[in-house]
Amino acid sequence: MTSYLIRGARILGGEPADLLIRDGRIAEPGGAADETIDGTGLVALPGLVDLHTHLREPGREDAETVETGSRAAALGGYTAVCAMANTSPVADTAGVVEQVWRLGREAGLVDVQPIGAVTVGLAGERLAELGAMATSAATVRIFSDDGQCVADPRLMRRALEYVKAFDGVIAQHAEEPRLTEGAQMHEGEVSTRLGLTGWPAVAEEAIIARDVLLAEHVGSRLHVCHVSTAGSVEVLRHAKARGVRVTAEVTPHHLLLTDELAASYDPVYKVNPPLRTAADVQALREALVEGVIDIVATDHAPHAVEDKECEWAYARPGMLGLETALPIVLSVLGERWELIADRMSRTPARIAGLDGHGGSLAVGDPANVTLVDPAARRQVDAAELASRSRNTPYAGMTLPGRIVATFLRGEATVLDGKAVK
Ligand code: DOR
Ligand code: ZN
Repeated sequence: MTSYLIRGARILGGEPADLLIRDGRIAEPGGAADETIDGTGLVALPGLVDLHTHLREPGREDAETVETGSRAAALGGYTAVCAMANTSPVADTAGVVEQVWRLGREAGLVDVQPIGAVTVGLAGERLAELGAMATSAATVRIFSDDGQCVADPRLMRRALEYVKAFDGVIAQHAEEPRLTEGAQMHEGEVSTRLGLTGWPAVAEEAIIARDVLLAEHVGSRLHVCHVSTAGSVEVLRHAKARGVRVTAEVTPHHLLLTDELAASYDPVYKVNPPLRTAADVQALREALVEGVIDIVATDHAPHAVEDKECEWAYARPGMLGLETALPIVLSVLGERWELIADRMSRTPARIAGLDGHGGSLAVGDPANVTLVDPAARRQVDAAELASRSRNTPYAGMTLPGRIVATFLRGEATVLDGKAVK
């Protein structure tokens, strides 16, 4: 196994130091290594962890595969991703989650941790085989019907009760379906102007309020996917003050983009939950810094051209995220490396229970590392992305921060900004 000496990189943004990667771990610096990397001006972070990735396999391999999505993740600085269950067939059995897990191992570019569906076929009617998925080779700990909300409060309660036995977590896509029928974008001034049916903030906030109360009642863990409104932040703040076991994520796009972009009618900006107002964006940024929102998760949602380059109303919701997440977060938060390491690596690893990820790059830790050049600026070119899909809303934007290298347990997956395999 190749050993690497990274000279003079700023570890988690601290003073320049040497970092030795040997036999899969961070080793005591000193002595030679097979390869030396000049780390001058670079920042070393623990490998990023994405709690919310759509890899589309099985079923929509034309949009993404476990392998292409894993490569996009590695290029984005990730060493682990949690694969959402809304595949075809749905990941609602031990067989499907084991298949995704095995494909991740075979690709060998990031650790792919499957998320299991909460309900059979994401239909919201019967609980899926949560126990069988938990005890499968994939050792599922997070369950989610993402794309759909677990709207039935009794099913949600049962799911929370079920996973309590093994300290699992239910990740909720918070959207009261009766309040978003036919919705095309955020309900507000812009939707009124454009004449598009609105998706009101309260459809998200009402489900989060209900679910934090259910989680408190049951004493279970709840995770809220892609929080998008200022009101949701207030509900979460209240729940956390009461000691409810709830964590929450925000996406890079909800930290940067607003509903004004819908005025272009370009479906690349169609996403669920929808882009919100500038005031929501500001509240989400503050909540992330404060810790009311725990993590950044991409909701990387690749879509084939025919599902995206069509009329707004017919386009599928979702946008790419893995290869641009760190640059977006850097542009939003600035070079607050400890904060970035916490929100994009340490805390997501803890929520997902991914041992060996989210460390502090201490001697002896598994060498899951990403090396970033914060001074480099890069123009996003959709054609250059490793994802099989092209639906990035950032095309043409110049963003700070280039991922120079990524190491998964000491093996380079990215070197010189390029995928190794
Ligand atoms: O925009 C979205 N896309 N939101 C979701 O909840 C699902 C996702 C997808 O699967 O494309
Ligand atoms: Zn979702």
